[in-house]
Amino acid sequence: MFSTPFVLTFSLLLSLPILFFLAPRILPPHPTPLPISPSDELDDINLFNNAIAHSSTPPSSPHPSKFFHLSSKNPNLKIAFLFLTNTDLHFTPLWNLFFQTTPTKLFNIYVHSDPSVNITHNNNINNPLFKFIPSKKTYRASPTLISATRRLLATALLDDPSNSYFIVLSQFCIPLHSFDYIYRSLFLSPTFDLTDTESTQFGVRLKYKSFVEIISNGPRLWKRYIARGRNEMMPEVPFDKFRVGSQFFSLTRKHALVVVKDRTLWRKFKVPCYRDDECYPEEHYFPTLLSMVDPDGVTSYTLTNVNWTGTVNGHPHTYQVDEVSPELILRLRKSNHSESYLFARKFVPDCLEPLMAMARSVIFKD
Ligand SMILES: *[C@@H]1O[C@H](CO)[C@@H](O)[C@H](O)[C@H]1NC(C)=O
Ligand SMILES: *[C@@H]1O[C@H](CO)[C@@H](O)[C@H](O)[C@H]1NC(C)=O
Ligand SMILES: *[C@@H]1O[C@H](CO)[C@@H](O)[C@H](O)[C@H]1NC(C)=O
Repeated sequence: MFSTPFVLTFSLLLSLPILFFLAPRILPPHPTPLPISPSDELDDINLFNNAIAHSSTPPSSPHPSKFFHLSSKNPNLKIAFLFLTNTDLHFTPLWNLFFQTTPTKLFNIYVHSDPSVNITHNNNINNPLFKFIPSKKTYRASPTLISATRRLLATALLDDPSNSYFIVLSQFCIPLHSFDYIYRSLFLSPTFDLTDTESTQFGVRLKYKSFVEIISNGPRLWKRYIARGRNEMMPEVPFDKFRVGSQFFSLTRKHALVVVKDRTLWRKFKVPCYRDDECYPEEHYFPTLLSMVDPDGVTSYTLTNVNWTGTVNGHPHTYQVDEVSPELILRLRKSNHSESYLFARKFVPDCLEPLMAMARSVIFKD
């Protein structure tokens, strides 16, 4: 006779492959994403409250009543680069070169990386300028991407009162110009924004705007609006206020604070969608919020070039090694809204080598 432990082990072993084969059939193909846990939510609220309490409106931040002459850099006006990634930062060597193109350190770098990826180890980032912030796991088609972005904004607001523009980037983004060009475009140039002639007069910058893509008539807007249920967004967000745009934006300090302060819209956008093929909360939350709160303070276009021609499965065109050339960089800079795009995505990691080869002679030569 077989002993009982043997039978038990045997049947357990037998059931494993059965489970393995059956599981995909039993489980729904798109498991409903879990809501954000109360403890994660609490961690965020504490961080956001801290940021709000310690960064009201510092005297150094761009403000309409303070005039800055367009000829000089101001040590109190820095750019915060916010990297949001769930893999290695593929283009770290290129970014390192980028930050070396400026003699004065008028920037800070913050990284929110998926805790399950040991990014410092894999990337050999020994550059102390990269500050790794306390991060949580992110999932596609879920509001965790909004939370991660808000965490980056809050941390950067708290960390340095001179952070004045907040630029969200991913591991697939590259710079299209030198740091100095980007700094001049954001803070100093009277002609950079082609859609606005009022913010700059007599060589003096009167107003700083956020660069956020805001589109009110996308083809799938209604499906995305009802992705949490037909009336789920009401009454705070009626359909005619619902917007779509890129999550890769450049915000002023004022607007970074608006995002971190928001509770009303977050209550709506944090609700999980019941179908994930029409669920991109991070593409809706930021443009909807900012167009509702301060429509005149945003440009409605982004500074990060992304190629949606031939989009597959919600992913934009991803540039391959054989597409990378000086001509591509020049083409990617061309914008109808500003003098130039400043960043571009997405590139496969192998593009690093050809990009490095022309970094100084093409990308940072401007
Ligand atoms: C990640 O890599 C760094 C550098 O090699 C190492 O010091 C650290 O212990 C690693 N962390 C984990 C969680 O493996
Ligand atoms: C955009 O992607 C398409 C392929 O999907 C490609 O043919 C085109 O050249 C790309 N645009 C630019 C500016 O490279
Ligand atoms: C820019 O404007 C031109 C002329 O109106 C138009 O043909 C082109 O499609 C626009 N490009 C983009 C990227 O919107």
